[in-house]
Amino acid sequence: MTNEVFIQCRGLSKTYKKGETTVTPLEALDLDVPRGEFLALMGPSGSGKTTLLNLIAGIDSPTTGSLTIGGRELGKMSRGKLTEWRSRHCGYIFQLYHLVPILTAYENIELPLLLEKELSRKDRKEKIEAALDLVGLSGRADHRPSELSGGQEQRVAIARAIVADPELLVADEPTGDLDRESAKQILDLLQRLSGEMGKTIVMVTHDSKAADAAHRTLHLEKGQLVDSGLIGMDASSAGGEI
Ligand SMILES: Nc1ncnc2c1ncn2[C@@H]1O[C@H](COP(=O)(O)OP(=O)(O)OP(=O)(O)O)[C@@H](O)[C@H]1O
Ligand SMILES: [Mg+2]
Repeated sequence: MTNEVFIQCRGLSKTYKKGETTVTPLEALDLDVPRGEFLALMGPSGSGKTTLLNLIAGIDSPTTGSLTIGGRELGKMSRGKLTEWRSRHCGYIFQLYHLVPILTAYENIELPLLLEKELSRKDRKEKIEAALDLVGLSGRADHRPSELSGGQEQRVAIARAIVADPELLVADEPTGDLDRESAKQILDLLQRLSGEMGKTIVMVTHDSKAADAAHRTLHLEKGQLVDSGLIGMDASSAGGEI
């Protein structure tokens, strides 16, 4: 972990309006995440965890407040720029893997690379093989998701999330559907991605054992952090001592 603030949220709010009803899943949230941190987010159902992940991943835009990642303010980007930013800088890992059932593990991992027009087939192959090797599934490249265990499917999904070498990974209950042993493998892998490869990881989990794998755990309740999300002695300044 470094002492550079990589993700900075200030007064971050999200409001959804449907007819007369207004829902505010996130309200005036302040959060600093240092580059290379593995952060766990916990909180009851409906507390805004997925909403926050989707903002951090650039899938959704804040209603008010600022969200800066790697020095770039996401709220100021156009939709097109945000999509481009996301494909370069953020990998998303889901609870239920979201693999394409008719594609092999290799082809699933290849998907994000097909957006990179300048990559040759050979370059793609090198990256996919490195990602498969990293998640320990070199021998399963030709298997379809239905031919893999849940833990293996999640490892393919992680390989897909990291194949384009993003600095940031967000994971929404990545071990929620797995047995203890498979969950441990996934958490070990996330720890290695942060510890050895310097990825910044924000992981939502309901499981305090899973949260123990992270550097820090924060709790959301009704759209607000129960603990201070800020780091350092001077909470108002980004980039302070951790
Ligand atoms: N697109 C949307 N439109 C309207 N309301 C939404 C939308 N997305 C989320 N919400 C509402 O925002 C609140 C927070 O939802 P969110 O999915 O962030 O919760 P969560 O903490 O991830 O819960 P869970 O643990 O069940 O996954 C909920 O009340 C939800 O109904
Ligand atoms: Mg959720």
